[in-house]
Amino acid sequence: MAIIIKTIPIFSFILVTLFFASTARAAMFNISNNCSYTVWAAAIPGGGRRLNSGEIWALDMAAGTSKARIWPRTNCSFDESGRGTCLTGDCGGLLECNQTGTPPNTLAEFSLNQYNNMDFFDISLVDGFNVPLEISPNSTACNNTIRCTGDVADQCPRELKVAGGCQNPCTVFGSDQYCCTSGSRNCTATTYSKFFKDRCPAAYSYPMDDPTSTFTCPGGTSYNVVFCP
Ligand SMILES: *[C@@H]1O[C@H](CO)[C@@H](O)[C@H](O)[C@H]1NC(C)=O
Ligand SMILES: *[C@@H]1O[C@H](CO)[C@@H](O)[C@H](O)[C@H]1NC(C)=O
Ligand SMILES: *[C@@H]1O[C@H](CO)[C@@H](O)[C@H](O)[C@H]1NC(C)=O
Ligand SMILES: *[C@@H]1O[C@H](CO)[C@@H](O)[C@H](O)[C@H]1NC(C)=O
Ligand SMILES: *[C@@H]1O[C@H](CO)[C@@H](O)[C@H](O)[C@H]1NC(C)=O
Ligand SMILES: *[C@@H]1O[C@H](CO)[C@@H](O)[C@H](O)[C@H]1NC(C)=O
Repeated sequence: MAIIIKTIPIFSFILVTLFFASTARAAMFNISNNCSYTVWAAAIPGGGRRLNSGEIWALDMAAGTSKARIWPRTNCSFDESGRGTCLTGDCGGLLECNQTGTPPNTLAEFSLNQYNNMDFFDISLVDGFNVPLEISPNSTACNNTIRCTGDVADQCPRELKVAGGCQNPCTVFGSDQYCCTSGSRNCTATTYSKFFKDRCPAAYSYPMDDPTSTFTCPGGTSYNVVFCP
């Protein structure tokens, strides 16, 4: 495989992608609610479910899944058909999410079996913060455990403070400086991104915060995502 990669990179990329799509096993996630309160976990792909304190959701994701996200929702209320609303992280009013959540919500992001068959993952505060979160690989081959446990909600700057969490400055102010919609040129760390980074150094604090915020494990690793580690 290594020789093919050196000689015909595009074809080998396609072959590798097909190979993992067809033969690699799914990645397993244990999503645990270690908070003292109920959290409604959400995952794309995956849906969502209520997790009482201490409960675990075992979720499989297909090999090769990219841009997956797992996040906590708080203070939700759903009817028997799975429709309702959450104070934070709400995904269009559905218990089983099929779209991203309404900020603020802490995010665990995964792209599985990517370049060199590595998994890329991160914790992101780009959408703001609602619940402390940890990602730990369930593997002796990879010890990249990352967590965001700083006191972000209580110390949140007044302009960003909302019920249930700390909002991100892009949602509040909408300006390119915070949203980075026009790319990296105008987008550097800000007072607000530093507030998040000081409290959660391993997490994305603004969209271009890649160098200190992206982690890898070998493809095929299983992960624990813990709310309130
Ligand atoms: C994940 O959850 C399953 C079922 O509850 C359990 O058997 C397994 O040990 C858990 N793995 C970890 C790493 O906690
Ligand atoms: C959200 O739920 C928590 C725990 O049940 C509760 O303490 C808190 O008051 C609720 N917040 C709001 C804004 O309803
Ligand atoms: C999400 O699911 C709902 C209910 O099944 C459906 O009406 C909606 O079209 C779906 N949205 C997306 C983006 O798939
Ligand atoms: C983590 O893993 C790396 C690479 O496998 C190794 O060099 C390092 O000693 C490990 N650290 C701990 C604390 O196990
Ligand atoms: C975590 O590792 C243990 C021991 O290798 C295994 O029993 C368990 O099933 C794993 N959990 C997941 C979610 O992969
Ligand atoms: C769950 O929270 C308790 C403190 O409430 C902590 O001691 C424990 O390590 C946490 N467990 C995990 C898996 O993070």
